[in-house]
Amino acid sequence: MTIATHPFDALMDITARPPVVFVRGQGSFLWDDSGKRYLDFVQGWAVNCLGHSPPVVVEALAEQAKLLLNPGPAFYNAPSLKLAKALTDRSCFDQVFFTNSGAEANEGAIKLARKFGALHRNGAYEIITFEGGFHGRTLATMSASGKKAFEPLFEPKVSGFPKAQLNDLASVKRLISSKTIAVMLEPIQGEAGVWPPTDQFLSDLSDLTREHGLLLIVDEIQTGMGRTGKIFHYEHAGIEPDIMTLGKGIGGGVPLAALLATEAASCFEHGDQGGTFNGNPLMCAAGLAVLQHVAEPHFLKSVVDTGLYLESELQRMSARHGLGEIRGKGLLLALDLRIPVAAAIVAQAFEDGVLLNAPRPDALRFMPALNVTREEITRMIDCLDSILTKIGAARRIA
Ligand SMILES: Cc1ncc(COP(=O)(O)O)c(C=O)c1O
Repeated sequence: MTIATHPFDALMDITARPPVVFVRGQGSFLWDDSGKRYLDFVQGWAVNCLGHSPPVVVEALAEQAKLLLNPGPAFYNAPSLKLAKALTDRSCFDQVFFTNSGAEANEGAIKLARKFGALHRNGAYEIITFEGGFHGRTLATMSASGKKAFEPLFEPKVSGFPKAQLNDLASVKRLISSKTIAVMLEPIQGEAGVWPPTDQFLSDLSDLTREHGLLLIVDEIQTGMGRTGKIFHYEHAGIEPDIMTLGKGIGGGVPLAALLATEAASCFEHGDQGGTFNGNPLMCAAGLAVLQHVAEPHFLKSVVDTGLYLESELQRMSARHGLGEIRGKGLLLALDLRIPVAAAIVAQAFEDGVLLNAPRPDALRFMPALNVTREEITRMIDCLDSILTKIGAARRIA
């Protein structure tokens, strides 16, 4: 492949990408322009919850595209009204604001919390977030993130995001002051390497925020939409947060995200929030098709079953190769490799036609389509098994 067939240099070089161009996707598989097929356990970073180009989403997009693309955000459209209602019917929230990316949804959550502080808490504006957390790449969401690599970038950061430690309630308590308005966290820290808070921590955190009159914000951009076996992960802990953000899976592959809030927390006034493409009918039609599919009880049960199957296969493989623990829930899992060989494994798997992700040097993350089959899991495990065998042999020789 050359620069003549594909003008790579016209795109900003913002990340290292393999020199391959993908042209087609179906279910758990992607094809590049040489016809090579790849089994995809990344799925656009946990985005394509029903796999590549799922017929329900393709049909919803085609139907909506024929009807109405964009009346503009100053007018109502039917798909956004229906999707907002479907989301509030299935959650503890009352109102929805649609966005085009997860970072934009989180930016909205931060603004909503600050507005709440201005209205009800003497201008309190600090939002306690967590070391290792990831909330996006706008300036405010990078500032809210606890990702070490972000620390030296784009100074000065947006202020007002003191960091606590996951699973350490005392570290949260220490940061609460008259300036605090909210606590914000991912129910599983995905980008950091799949680190789940315990259900007990989530429940204690919920009690603590209630006690202090603070808002609890859950960033379910990676964990929501069935990824961990319930439509929203917070349901596992039996809590009712005040604000939630959704992204990734909600559009099934198209750019859609959402900010949800309870009636009490929904305090935006005219002019506070908006955006040209927000809640456009095309993306919301896709979101509606995804939600109808994912919310089926038999679908969620199959996510739980398939997740347990993947977990047990990873556990067996880990034991065979003397690796570490399996973390996560449902179909958001990580394998601790104990040694920093994740990048080499991802590169070799790519050569072998399997897409894997390494969120950190010593861990692999698995986020396949929620309808991935057992045969596809076996195929991925076989590939990984043989790579690990080769790495083990090479280390023994060295
Ligand atoms: C938990 C979490 N929050 C926010 C984001 C940002 O979403 P987006 O990339 O759509 O802006 C991500 C993306 O990886 C995420 O995993």
